Amino acid sequence: MLQITDLAKYYNGQTVFSGFDMQLPAGRFKVLLGPSGCGKSTLFNALTGVTSKDAGTIVWQGKEVAHLGRLCAYMHQKDLLLPWFSLMDNALLPVKTRGRNMATARKRAETLFSRLGLAGYESHRPNQVSGGMRQRCALVRTLMFDRDLILLDEPLSALDAITRQRLQHLLLLLQTEFAKTILMITHDVDEALLLADDIFVSSSLPMAVIQQIHLDLPKPRAFDDPCLLQIKADILAYLVKGEAV
Ligand SMILES: Nc1ncnc2c1ncn2[C@@H]1O[C@H](COP(=O)(O)OP(=O)(O)OP(=O)(O)O)[C@@H](O)[C@H]1O
Ligand SMILES: [Mg+2]
Repeated sequence: MLQITDLAKYYNGQTVFSGFDMQLPAGRFKVLLGPSGCGKSTLFNALTGVTSKDAGTIVWQGKEVAHLGRLCAYMHQKDLLLPWFSLMDNALLPVKTRGRNMATARKRAETLFSRLGLAGYESHRPNQVSGGMRQRCALVRTLMFDRDLILLDEPLSALDAITRQRLQHLLLLLQTEFAKTILMITHDVDEALLLADDIFVSSSLPMAVIQQIHLDLPKPRAFDDPCLLQIKADILAYLVKGEAV
């Protein structure tokens, strides 16, 4: 269980969020939806220690921690691939820096490259492939961390509809087959409805919860499920309301 209490972050005197609370039970998939610039990436950066938090506590599996840094796998909104490394070397970076068994890791990375449609591009440099391919490589690298808790900041935003659908399926497997706990940011309401157990709708800056929706519906889900369509209409209304706050 991840428990965030009273978290605050200010930039240059401006409140990005304050008094921010969130709970994420182990094994659950929570999606954060909110307008651009409301503070979603800042929240992830504060949770992982990329930036300091100004107040609040973070408790993971019953223990208070300064940040989730090495406890989670974090895929940033920017892919942060190293330009002088090949895609494969970028993907293997988490393993190299931790001195794990390279042969096993390489096999796993190769399987992921193949599942994510990157087979044959292992030796390419990031500037030799498309934005969507870089994004998929960043996703492989994130999964190479092999953590129970995964934070994904718009992981599928640069992908075409078919690739996106395939990767949504992969994200579902991470939860259902590998029991990962996932916190994900997306702008895509349909994606949230397909994947999430809980959707967290936030207002514009400063970020505050305007609605939390628990989706107790079996997965995989169908876009045209009338129940989902109703929830989608509600979420869009909440987002409009949040923009107006
Ligand atoms: N390093 C920084 N220094 C100063 N202000 C920052 C910094 N990073 C973010 N901000 C500000 O914090 C606010 C929230 O930014 P953030 O990137 O968290 O938004 P977001 O919800 O992730 O937006 P998007 O959906 O467009 O990715 C913005 O007003 C932004 O200008
Ligand atoms: Mg962002």
